[in-house]
Amino acid sequence: MGSTKNEYIPLFETKEMKSRIVHRLFAASVFVGIVLIWIYRAIHIPKSGEDGRWAWIGMFGAEIWFGFYWFLTQSVRWNQIHRQTFPDRLSQRYEKELPKVDIFVCTADPAVEPPIMVINTVLSVMAYDYPPEKLSVYLSDDAGSELTFHALLEASYFSKHWLPYCKKYKVEPRSPVAYFESETKVSDANHAEDFASIKKLYEEMENRVEVTNKLGQVSNKAEHKGFAMWDSFSSRGNHDTILQILVNGSDPQARDDAGCRLPTLVYLAREKRPQHFHNFKAGAMNALIRVSAEISNGPIIMNVDCDMYSNNSQSIRDALCFLMDEGKGHELAYVQFPQTFKNITKNDLYSNSMRVIREVEFHGLDGYGGPLYVGTGCFHRREVLCGRKFIKGTKIDIKRQDECRIADVHELEDRLKSLANCTYEENTEWGHEIGLKYGCPVEDVITGLSIQSQGWKSVYYNPSRAAFLGVAGTTLNQVLVQHKRWSEGDLQILLSKYSPAWYALGKIHIGLTMGYCNYCLWSPNCIAILYYSIIPSLYLLKGIPLFPQTSSAWFLPFAYVIIAEHIYSAAEFLLSGGTILGWWNDQRMWLYKRTSSYLFAFVDTVLKLLGYSDLKFVISSKVSDEDVSKRYDEEVLEFGTSSPMFTMISSLALLNLFCLIGILFRLASNLSLRSLYATLALQTLLCGIFILINLPLYNALFFRKDKGSMPGSVTSKSVFWAISACILFTIMW
Ligand SMILES: *[C@@H]1O[C@H](CO)[C@@H](O)[C@H](O)[C@H]1NC(C)=O
Ligand SMILES: *[C@@H]1O[C@H](CO)[C@@H](O)[C@H](O)[C@H]1NC(C)=O
Repeated sequence: MGSTKNEYIPLFETKEMKSRIVHRLFAASVFVGIVLIWIYRAIHIPKSGEDGRWAWIGMFGAEIWFGFYWFLTQSVRWNQIHRQTFPDRLSQRYEKELPKVDIFVCTADPAVEPPIMVINTVLSVMAYDYPPEKLSVYLSDDAGSELTFHALLEASYFSKHWLPYCKKYKVEPRSPVAYFESETKVSDANHAEDFASIKKLYEEMENRVEVTNKLGQVSNKAEHKGFAMWDSFSSRGNHDTILQILVNGSDPQARDDAGCRLPTLVYLAREKRPQHFHNFKAGAMNALIRVSAEISNGPIIMNVDCDMYSNNSQSIRDALCFLMDEGKGHELAYVQFPQTFKNITKNDLYSNSMRVIREVEFHGLDGYGGPLYVGTGCFHRREVLCGRKFIKGTKIDIKRQDECRIADVHELEDRLKSLANCTYEENTEWGHEIGLKYGCPVEDVITGLSIQSQGWKSVYYNPSRAAFLGVAGTTLNQVLVQHKRWSEGDLQILLSKYSPAWYALGKIHIGLTMGYCNYCLWSPNCIAILYYSIIPSLYLLKGIPLFPQTSSAWFLPFAYVIIAEHIYSAAEFLLSGGTILGWWNDQRMWLYKRTSSYLFAFVDTVLKLLGYSDLKFVISSKVSDEDVSKRYDEEVLEFGTSSPMFTMISSLALLNLFCLIGILFRLASNLSLRSLYATLALQTLLCGIFILINLPLYNALFFRKDKGSMPGSVTSKSVFWAISACILFTIMW
């Protein structure tokens, strides 16, 4: 408590991006280019009756959209800032008064999210470098699975050895499996011995968890009274609330091997009934908020997905540097860490790491009031999550030392169960004014937006060493399906009551509104891209130009915008730590997402608006094959299943290929066309780029023989669609 008001030394600092001026001048020049393109389109529209009039107007429409969207993307680049924390100062000033922190881990399905992975995440957050009596970890299990409960019970035993080991040897990272996988340097003999014994303990535990998992049920239920809760369990969608305090951290008897206190550990499976809608993760989080309020009531809530372990034991302290800062802390509602993935291959074939979003765009959002809440790796103030409005000048005191003792754990468990019942939220503001918002597939983003709309700010903290590490999708299908869900949810936000376009307008910075729209408009992008990837190629086939010829002065703005933007995006990608091949892969994924995920999200949303909410594109499930991860590591595109998304991207790739082959034949046989060639250069180039970017796809369609190649049904469908489109177009128009 060394500091007084007049010698205030901040706990964090904020730096502006260095090359701001250069970037802004560049952006201005691109803007001029875009306007020139618009002017060209407007004054050269073919007269009615002339070839390509409607196609021309369509091109104009697409280019207006691109220009508009480009303008939106500038908002997340214009004002980037970077943050730096000073945990030493925090420690000096507040070590004795650190607030309690409640950590929520959410899991939903033991088949997709194996219990052993879940408990590794739990152990990694239990082992944070933080006073254990101030730390509580809650696992929400929406499957209500006794397998997950069994694994958590095992983790509670293992933690008594693991936590002291971590402290003694300053272990990093603190997820056991990640630690054992990393090349650990064990220097002295004592440590080597401890290492061997902790590793053995872990492996034994892992074995018990895996065996139980294979068996599909817990064999020794007498081991813990908690299993009795499953006596009345009928199915994962129909059961009572199951609440177990596995470690009661307020009990002075709860000690680890070395005699230190342990963090509280709680298992919760909220009540599920078929007739009650459960609101997915938002519903689970809200139940946790209520239950935790009665157990530990930490003023800080951190939530993390069960596949994202903590990779840095200091992260809580980093977050507190923002939230406890005397100068700015009281304005901040949450601190968002980036989503980072550990199993990204060198050239990131599926663009999983979302590098530019992480290293550029979120820093830009931060400059205008703070990043989106992305649902994992985020530290919230409890009161703000519970609906507290921002009032200028007032401070929330999170430095509390009162320690509530739990007198009788069983009595408490029984009493708190009702908080997680289906009917608890009826006629309350939960899901609306209090807690996470309901009714949207990306509940996290909309919750963050409504918090910011109330005047709160948020902070994006992107340390060079990742704070959380998750597992990324390893097949193309997984990634495309994921993006369909995101883009669909984001579009629904735009159309919802909480739309950044009207609800938040005037409440948050206009730059932030634009930033949100950037993501909310992901899916409508599909129309312009589809147009651009189909129409110019078909007109190329017919020999009708849609771009200025190379000798015309109007060619320049096109060339400038295209070349400048691509060099810029490649530079941005490289500066964010990517490789040039990674950038190329990113471009491919950019195209695939826009022509499949976003398209399907868009169509689904429109159908929903029209009232056909049951019409859904059926998308095949995840593949799990031994070769899959091998191909992933070798960076070979994974298809293998037939999905309408694959048909879509293959048809487009083939259409462009056929158009280019077609025009080459026509040029070879028809000399008069050659004079036209200068007018078709840009169109040919565009078509050629589509083909280049799709080379791995042609390989999967026609040449590869492995299981990850394109299924024959998709190949034949796409060939059919592409040929029909070319033939119909040349005959009919
Ligand atoms: C990524 O994770 C998957 C699934 O866990 C695994 O099969 C694959 O080998 C990992 N790849 C890398 C590069 O870590
Ligand atoms: C995770 O933490 C380890 C140290 O424990 C560090 O070496 C590694 O770089 C971190 N991973 C990432 C992706 O930052």
